[in-house]
Amino acid sequence: MILVTGGAGFIGSNFVLDWLADHDEPVVNLDALTYAGNLNNLRPLEGDPRHIFVHGNIGDAALLSDLFTRHKPRAVVNFAAESHVDRSIHGPEDFIQTNILGTFRLLEAARAYWGGLENKSDFRFLHVSTDEVFGTLGADDPAFNEETSYRPNSPYSASKAASDHLVRAYFHTYGLPVVTTNCSNNYGPLHFPEKLIPLVIHNALKGRPLPIYGDGMQIRDWLYVKDHCSAIRRVLEAGRLGETYNIGGWNERANLHVVTTLCEVLDELQPRSDGKKYGEQIAFVADRPGHDRRYAIDARKIEAELGWRPAETFESGIRKTVRWYLDNADWVENVTSGSYRNWVEKQYA
Ligand code: NAD
Ligand code: DAU
Repeated sequence: MILVTGGAGFIGSNFVLDWLADHDEPVVNLDALTYAGNLNNLRPLEGDPRHIFVHGNIGDAALLSDLFTRHKPRAVVNFAAESHVDRSIHGPEDFIQTNILGTFRLLEAARAYWGGLENKSDFRFLHVSTDEVFGTLGADDPAFNEETSYRPNSPYSASKAASDHLVRAYFHTYGLPVVTTNCSNNYGPLHFPEKLIPLVIHNALKGRPLPIYGDGMQIRDWLYVKDHCSAIRRVLEAGRLGETYNIGGWNERANLHVVTTLCEVLDELQPRSDGKKYGEQIAFVADRPGHDRRYAIDARKIEAELGWRPAETFESGIRKTVRWYLDNADWVENVTSGSYRNWVEKQYA
């Protein structure tokens, strides 16, 4: 049994689906079902006894204690977080509550449970984090490696950095068997359409502007979500305790290039009915405050030590992603109803 937190969100639900496609080991999935969590993501597991969904908060100490006692997981994989940088700029409070205090409560509950285990060294606490904790790179700087200093620039990345430090401290102070992963930008199925790639696909199909912050020359390092999930599994299996592993697929791309590529794939797979090109919808808008210019992951440690490699290139992953959104219009319709309108949709109404 493993305990996954945030398993109804984008990466967590891909992780749970892939895990149960390959293993029979059951999953307890604890998720607060915020705007970003969606049980539809887990619909293929309806009625599957290997998946136990628990609606609850990682900040709820009593619930956590009960879950650990009842299910006796051999590992925790902590995805639960507030994850969107723009939202953290408009309202940082939830990021502090979940990403810092929530992770702290989860660590405390894990420590109490682990302290009572006979085979303490068999337990794992895997904390899923981000490359944003390292801050921004200049055009010629080497990519982030595991020795790069933390220099977070947004409330989101600062809250994730704090959680990473707590996880590290629980290893050094209490000996809790932890491992942390710092991954680059994910994309793929089940991605909530507030983030660049799914937002652009959604807006393109709705005939709305495709917003590019600033000059669009900011660089992100893109990884197909299923490759992130396979890397986490590999780290859970063989990662060294107390270590951190950077995860990325060597796919640095400027935002404008990403959006242009999406437009070209859409032009091919679902041409506009008026015969025009989706690229005509691109609109340069005001920049994000504190916008990091460049992220890039040096993935040599996980490749050399654990033999992990991504399966998708940027080009193959983007095609799969556009195809998925075209084939899953009902999923998009579902997640963009209700509270979504309060955030993204009102900007284009
Ligand atoms: P997401 O926003 O899609 O999903 C987060 C999930 O956590 C949601 O299901 C939400 O309901 C749940 N959640 C939020 N607060 C909770 C709480 N207090 N208790 C329990 N559940 C709660 O995020 P994502 O993109 O899937 O990211 C998952 C993790 O991976 C995050 O920790 C994020 O920092 C990290 N990460 C994301 C990326 C990326 O590109 N998306 C890259 C690297 C790392
Ligand atoms: O690097 C990993 C991080 O990637 C994760 O830790 C975060 O959880 C995840 O949200 C993501 O953060 P970003 O801020 O990089 O992702 P986002 O999709 O919001 O933006 C990607 C880039 O595109 C960024 O440079 C901002 C820009 N952008 C974004 C949006 C939503 C635009 O130009 N226009 C937009 O409308």
